[in-house]
Amino acid sequence: MKKLLRTLAAAGTIVLAFAGSAAADHTVKVGVIAPFSGPFAIWGKQFKNAVEVYVAQNGKKAGTHTVEFIYKDSGGPNPSGTKSLAQELIVRDKVDYLGGFVFTPNALSVAPLIQKAKVPTVIFNAATSIIVKKSDYFVRPSFSLWQVTVPMAEWAWKQGIKTAVIAVTDYGPGNDAEVAFRTTFEKLGGKVLDAIRMPLSTTDFGPFMQRIKDKNPNAVFVFLPAGPPSFAFVKSYNENGMKAQGIQFLGTGEMDETTLDALGDAALGLTTAYHYSGAHDSDKNRAFLKTLEEISPGAAANLASVGAYDGAHVLYQMIKAVGSDRTKAVAAVKGMAWESPRGPVSLDPDTRHIIQNVYIRRVAKDENGKLINQEFDIIRKAVPDLGLPN
Ligand code: PHB
Repeated sequence: MKKLLRTLAAAGTIVLAFAGSAAADHTVKVGVIAPFSGPFAIWGKQFKNAVEVYVAQNGKKAGTHTVEFIYKDSGGPNPSGTKSLAQELIVRDKVDYLGGFVFTPNALSVAPLIQKAKVPTVIFNAATSIIVKKSDYFVRPSFSLWQVTVPMAEWAWKQGIKTAVIAVTDYGPGNDAEVAFRTTFEKLGGKVLDAIRMPLSTTDFGPFMQRIKDKNPNAVFVFLPAGPPSFAFVKSYNENGMKAQGIQFLGTGEMDETTLDALGDAALGLTTAYHYSGAHDSDKNRAFLKTLEEISPGAAANLASVGAYDGAHVLYQMIKAVGSDRTKAVAAVKGMAWESPRGPVSLDPDTRHIIQNVYIRRVAKDENGKLINQEFDIIRKAVPDLGLPN
């Protein structure tokens, strides 16, 4: 068939008779924008590995269409560069879909563009609630800070934690995390003794540790983007005797599995609420880890891995259902449910954001002595984005 099409096309015959089948069986391009260089380059690597795991397990075809991924390097938080890359992917590379996006400002920068060009865009990470409201073409199978922080605050209160200091990176997701924690904790009767907003560029957390220690709270609730900021903060927490002073660490994604080894035993017992642990106990996760090990020996599975793997799944389902008929793609996946390596999930038909379990985890050692995030409680099942009014 392909040979016949080629022959006819070569003869200058435009193959109207075959146009239907040609349209039904063609390559659909997906542009993936993420950091592949700079301090956050691990994100791009984790995204790409996870997409490759998905392709290895499911094949290169979504239904009758071959899927081609084109990767572009945004560096770190870089809204104007990200917007240019998206433009280039849409206009020059003629992609039908976009994916990726670690940082909230980067995701927000493409909203007007994807709305106008009608490009379904699957967010693999960026986690400020408002993003999905900025374009009907966004679908977010990652998580939001509201989604994981409300359960964290509820759990903290249940443990008898009565006072807290909040310390967050001062931009979209940090601000969401602060409001979500404060609102929930105070409603239950907890007291927030201080709220610290730290610049994204901070690398020296010593002064913030002192400010937290001076307040002597039962716990410090933290959000920092996974990567060098979260790593440096946790290291500083460990080195400043906070645990010994009885200030419990509460966070979300700060115990990123790609940094646990480097944090070492000092991280043991630190508690976070999240939608995925690399050590999630399920066959689906074990299959994910097995293929990941084949593709990238020694690589750890973390939040980026599960966001990209499920992102690839959503993209495949859209492409399978509608090919390049992109105005229908988002509708095709609204309400869709599937089993992820993180557990059972679905896409909220109203918000286009993922509904998922939120687990409480603490850093522990597995049977081989490797540091893991051990899930020990499902604090809440089937949680929607609690930051979006329904
Ligand atoms: C975000 O910018 O939305 C973001 C970045 C890194 C994270 C979480 C959220 O680990």
